[in-house]
Amino acid sequence: MAEDLLKKYDRQVPRYTSYPTAPHFHEGVAGETYGEWLGALGNDDTLSLYFHVPFCAEMCWFCGCHTKVTRKYEPVVGYVSSMHRELDLVSAALKAQPKVTSVHWGGGSPTMLKPDDFTQLMQALREKFNLAEDAEIAVEIDPRTLAADFIEALVASGVNRVSLGVQDFDDTVQQAINRVQPYEMVAKVVEDLRAAGIKAFNFDLIYGLPYQTAESIIRTVDLAMKLQPDRLSVFGYAHVPWMKTHQRMIKDETLPDTAQRFELAELLANQLISHDYDRIGLDHFAKADDAMQVAHAGGTLRRNFQGYTTDSASALIGIGASSIGYLPQGYVQNQVPLKTYMDAMNAGDLATARGIALSDQDKIRGRIIEELMCQLKVDLADFGEADLYATELGALQPLAEDGLVKVQGSKVQVTEKGRPFMRLACAVFDAYLKPEPKRYSKAI
Ligand SMILES: C[S@@+](CC[C@H](N)C(=O)[O-])C[C@H]1O[C@@H](n2cnc3c(N)ncnc32)[C@H](O)[C@@H]1O
Ligand code: SF4
Repeated sequence: MAEDLLKKYDRQVPRYTSYPTAPHFHEGVAGETYGEWLGALGNDDTLSLYFHVPFCAEMCWFCGCHTKVTRKYEPVVGYVSSMHRELDLVSAALKAQPKVTSVHWGGGSPTMLKPDDFTQLMQALREKFNLAEDAEIAVEIDPRTLAADFIEALVASGVNRVSLGVQDFDDTVQQAINRVQPYEMVAKVVEDLRAAGIKAFNFDLIYGLPYQTAESIIRTVDLAMKLQPDRLSVFGYAHVPWMKTHQRMIKDETLPDTAQRFELAELLANQLISHDYDRIGLDHFAKADDAMQVAHAGGTLRRNFQGYTTDSASALIGIGASSIGYLPQGYVQNQVPLKTYMDAMNAGDLATARGIALSDQDKIRGRIIEELMCQLKVDLADFGEADLYATELGALQPLAEDGLVKVQGSKVQVTEKGRPFMRLACAVFDAYLKPEPKRYSKAI
């Protein structure tokens, strides 16, 4: 019974977009270490760049991202200069010219930038880094703030993938999350982007929002299908009002309970599968010819801070406040407060606030967790003697008894029934995880 399993496993676990997870980063890793790690990259390495734009026109009550509402453009101007400064500092710290194979703009809302600011940052990137001709350049789009001249800037800058924050098409739900964007508005944005030459579309949908019902989810999927995205990310609403105080605007009694959330998630998944989307990992769906499904089928799918990714670069460079990067030696995160980040840039210092150097053990456990998250299976024999993992194999037993994983010798497979619970299987391999109430969102 799904309900019994939900009760039994109703606990908080990380989303494993990194291992070790961000709460284990520490201040011992700062700008100096980051500079050394950048300097050690060679010409054979490949880079991915992530730009974080922490501004939005209005706060969506559900939002869990690092962002700030601003009505004036003035704070953005200073921030854009800081991003330019950071591109200078990072490129100066590199001793080689690794190819940049992927660029991702997220936030917040990159669509808050003036088109010229966006174009100039992309121009600076091309001048200072070795951008591959076939690089994927993706931008997250808030359909409510996408202006026509921004579309021109996207196309002129070589953007070839967009991700639209759709969330839910139901009016009652949209009102309750303070994000009103009727279907017609989203359809127009898609139409305009397609007309401008953008071919690859991702939609973000969320289940577990206030007032969502089976009917509203079915309607949302039907409307989304009319717009034919190649890929969808389907997130469970992470309700963490003790961390994100604006989420208090969403009253607990309007939220689906754990069992209802589970049903909505499965309904959404089944609806998408019935429309010929393949299910990828925990929360992605893609058409057979979409790059993510191709990577999934070919076993090259990866997981990073943006979630699942086709990006296989050996290093990720985060530009902007709160951005997280990884290098072969470890993870780094920039200062989160805008002022602290901008002060560091003005002083000509890398803005690393914290990070973690990876031990060999961390790297191995990270790979095991990533394989489970991406492929739903792992052979521990690929990572040393299976009896090294006797404790973990023992800890998987209750999950195996409930049919959520299958363990055969050194091979661990998350079953279809276990797919929504896969983070629990990963947690077994997390050597840092101690029960700490109210740090992560629910496992389901
Ligand atoms: C930075 S936003 C996307 C770009 C743009 N700001 C927008 O909202 O359209 C990234 C995505 O994170 C997801 N998200 C934000 N807060 C969330 C939360 N509390 N729980 C689950 N997903 C969330 C939403 O699906 C959102 O589209
Ligand atoms: S969901 Fe997107 S648009 Fe809404 S507040 Fe968060 S980052 Fe801004």
